[in-house]
Amino acid sequence: MDVLEALVSRRSIGRLTGEVDPALVEQLIAYAVWAPNHHLTQPWRFTLLHGAMRAELGRLWAHLSADERGLSGEARAEWVAREAARPLRAPLLIVVSCPVDPDPVRAAEDHSATAAAVQNFLLAAWAKGLGTIWRTGAMAYHPQVKRFLGLDPTDRIVAILYVGQPAAPPPPPRPRDLGRAIRWLNPPESAPEGADPPQ
Ligand SMILES: Cc1cc2nc3c(=O)[nH]c(=O)nc-3n(C[C@H](O)[C@H](O)[C@H](O)COP(=O)(O)O)c2cc1C
Repeated sequence: MDVLEALVSRRSIGRLTGEVDPALVEQLIAYAVWAPNHHLTQPWRFTLLHGAMRAELGRLWAHLSADERGLSGEARAEWVAREAARPLRAPLLIVVSCPVDPDPVRAAEDHSATAAAVQNFLLAAWAKGLGTIWRTGAMAYHPQVKRFLGLDPTDRIVAILYVGQPAAPPPPPRPRDLGRAIRWLNPPESAPEGADPPQ
């Protein structure tokens, strides 16, 4: 699969199953880290969770979030059961994080570089036949979740990648609006008007 085909055919896949070969995952990360990064800071960190670690993360998150909502009794039990199951939606979770530099420009650029590495990972995984979805949600911002993952509470979690074998055909594309995205300040005469993105 060439890069352009991967770009337009990749979809977020919510239903993931099976197993993921650890050597393949490390290969995909090796592709991911070819992302551009200013000053070669290589800010990305990939923290991998499979098997029982996913359930542990789920339990921690479920109880933290239930406590914060002051839930008890049946409402708490229902909440905990639902939240604890979230990390079990894929055989492998990869938390992609970066440190937050005291210099706000460097912090922003490190975040950008890490997001670029995430997209590289998604495309490489797709090209190798794996399904992924980039998730965040409240879990990604909780300091105790970061501590559980061995991260500093000030680190930024850029993505929680769910990785596995697609359990269903890819969903239809969610169209992008190219007209909204492009603005020529001084359009050459040959510039196309309102072209649709390639499908
Ligand atoms: C920073 C970021 C956070 C995201 N968080 C979530 C999430 O928490 N849950 C989710 O279902 N999708 C999440 N997504 C995926 C988007 O919903 C998805 O990319 C979008 O719907 C377009 O679908 P596509 O990736 O199949 O083109 C996130 C994407 C990004 C870039």
